[in-house]
Amino acid sequence: MLRRLHPEQPESFAFTDANMAWAEAQISKYPAGRQASAIIPLLWRAQEQEGWLTRPAIEAVADMLGMAYIRALEVASFYFMFQLQPVGSVAHFQICGTTSCMICGAEDLMTVCQEKIAAKPHTLSADGKFSWEEVECLGSCANAPMVQIGKDYYEDLTALRFGELIDELAAGKVPVPGPQNGRFASEPLSGLTSLKDFDSGHTKYNASAQLAVDIGDTVKRIDGTEVPLLTPWRKDAAQQSGAPGAETKPAPAAAPRDDAESDLVKPSAALPGQAELAARKGTWTYQPEADTAETAGETAGEKPAFLEAARSGGGDDLKLIKGIGPKLEGVLNEIGVYHFDQIAAWSAAEVAWVDDNLIGFKGRVSRDDWVAQARKLAAGEETEFAARAKQDGIYDT
Ligand code: FES
Repeated sequence: MLRRLHPEQPESFAFTDANMAWAEAQISKYPAGRQASAIIPLLWRAQEQEGWLTRPAIEAVADMLGMAYIRALEVASFYFMFQLQPVGSVAHFQICGTTSCMICGAEDLMTVCQEKIAAKPHTLSADGKFSWEEVECLGSCANAPMVQIGKDYYEDLTALRFGELIDELAAGKVPVPGPQNGRFASEPLSGLTSLKDFDSGHTKYNASAQLAVDIGDTVKRIDGTEVPLLTPWRKDAAQQSGAPGAETKPAPAAAPRDDAESDLVKPSAALPGQAELAARKGTWTYQPEADTAETAGETAGEKPAFLEAARSGGGDDLKLIKGIGPKLEGVLNEIGVYHFDQIAAWSAAEVAWVDDNLIGFKGRVSRDDWVAQARKLAAGEETEFAARAKQDGIYDT
């Protein structure tokens, strides 16, 4: 099947604050110059946030990782885990149609999809809640036939059970993933014939299904009500998610999300070049919220003095500062930062202001202590990072 971008695309994409923090943590796992390795988790998180993977999301992720858009698009269009067109608001079913599942009844499952959802794959049901597609082997052949929803597998299905499962989802329930015929995992249906003392760890379900139940993010949207993405690194995530077992209800779909009107695409006069940058990128830029009328005064710190242009002789190679890659150097130049001595002179309050306003790179200034590095470089000294960057030609991203 050809996997192409959907002809209708939203104007922009921006990670929520929580997702941006998560994304930055993923990027930081990789050594300098290898940040592109975070492409899969970041695309996946963008899809989890939006339901499907939009062009602005792909481009925003590419920008974050310093990748050409086409490289990110190659990844997004290769893996069928990425949905390039809108999917059902409650669930998108991926029906395995490969050998084991086909022999064991995958065609019956697809018939159920045609009857209950839509005659053709990648088509929304009349109520917009569901969509489906046939995919290749998902590696759960011992539990054929099976269907994937989001991260989770529903296995050992029959047409009857699959139909019930769709009905349960339509009613706002979240069926427990895993085998649907009573098996714990992939042991014989008649019971274990060996390793009878096998200890499952005393969980009610197998490890995968138990994790799905514990985290509770199998189905993120119920009846059009978007459940905020679970953020497992936050202890209050369960309450925030509205997931099964959570004490609070998710916000109604009619209410705009916090990020519904993205502040990442609002040009501002506060930083020179913001409007141009926003126009050029169209999706993802750097917004000093404190200088917008509605949020004035909220930004931390104190805005440093910027230059209109580099001094005669040209700007310094800011990429010699660890934490500043080609992309960020361009942004700094856009806002009027060209020289090591400018950064070297920033006070703590000014560092806080820049840290707070480099959306997408928040905290980068203090994280990498740009000021200390810039002081050395401004004084004509070398830093370990600068020496290595000059020698290898590999800069940060
Ligand atoms: Fe369906 Fe492998 S054939 S999971």
